[in-house]
Amino acid sequence: MEMCVIPGDGVGVEVIPAAVRVLQEAVSGVQVHYADAGWDYFQKTGNPLPDETVALAQQCKAVLYGAAASPSYPVDHYYIPGVRLRRVLKTYANLRPTRYMPVPTSRPGVDLIVVRENTEDVYVGQEYTQDSGRVGISEKVVTREATERIAHKAFQLARRTNRQKITIVHKASVMTQTDGLFRKVALEVAQEYSDIVTDELLVDTAAYWMVKNPARFDMILTSNLYGDILSDMAAAWGGGLGMAPSLSIGDGVAIAEPVHGCAPDIAGQGIANPTASILSVAMLLRHHWDREQEARQIEEAVHAVLSEGDHTTDIYSEGAISTVDFTDKICAHLSATRT
Ligand code: NAI
Ligand code: MG
Repeated sequence: MEMCVIPGDGVGVEVIPAAVRVLQEAVSGVQVHYADAGWDYFQKTGNPLPDETVALAQQCKAVLYGAAASPSYPVDHYYIPGVRLRRVLKTYANLRPTRYMPVPTSRPGVDLIVVRENTEDVYVGQEYTQDSGRVGISEKVVTREATERIAHKAFQLARRTNRQKITIVHKASVMTQTDGLFRKVALEVAQEYSDIVTDELLVDTAAYWMVKNPARFDMILTSNLYGDILSDMAAAWGGGLGMAPSLSIGDGVAIAEPVHGCAPDIAGQGIANPTASILSVAMLLRHHWDREQEARQIEEAVHAVLSEGDHTTDIYSEGAISTVDFTDKICAHLSATRT
């Protein structure tokens, strides 16, 4: 087993090595190759994602990716390396589970997964201005092909993981040609899986239910932007962004990546919560490497440590421990269960 590890920026360089430690505690013989990408690397080299990193990711077929900082204004030659990497590696499905975790900030009864289309929608980056910068235009791209493959992925995953219901989320009432196509194709695919209950919601209503009654959801199938937003909302019920894992998959390559960004407000202090990255590695083990047992051991170790009251400061500040100390406790649990 080989893994390309891209810590990126900010807390990425703190939480990603923590997840690597946990992986190596759980499984022996994983070859880890560190690689560059991100805003800091761009500042030094003028390139956000070097070819060597892409080649290494392709060779390893498994990637652990932290986060990259991205300014909210255009910068010549900069693009978000994570978004590019997902497209280049054709990891077209992003799986973002949220379930109850034993911390006071989590909500009992929640166990849902957002399956997010990862390659198109308004994230294709086809934007331009007109009228001397007075008008900004963004193209939203939805194709039958990409919608079919994400829908099949979602329904197959639902079957494999014993989920009963898929809610298709869109805004086809307004965007009849783009979201309308997504809705139509997703409903067509649903007919091939009559064992799974399918319903649909407009995205604004889905956001309402995500706050009001998140236990209403089992699996959400949606496009790129809505999936990004709804999964951050869902993350709040799983204990917070520091706890929310994700896995991008496609046909043979997988990227484990926490939902959160580089958290500049806490970066460099050694206090970031590594749980999101650690649970992302567990997802890689389960869905990509077919190592259910080790995935479960990692999840159980995280649960055990949290249940004992150990926590980082994002959960609550009183008695919070550092990233490294929290990771030590998870590794200690793992080594105890393995011996
Ligand atoms: P963020 O996810 O970095 O942070 C949001 C809040 O969650 C902050 O208060 C932060 O302290 C907290 N948080 C995030 N991860 C945490 C962790 N592991 N432990 C404890 N607390 C944590 O989102 P924000 O602040 O909107 O974005 C910061 C930068 O990250 C931006 O430049 C943005 O573009 C980038 N970003 C990158 C992503 C990626 O590369 N996948 C995803 C999201 C944002
Ligand atoms: Mg996001």
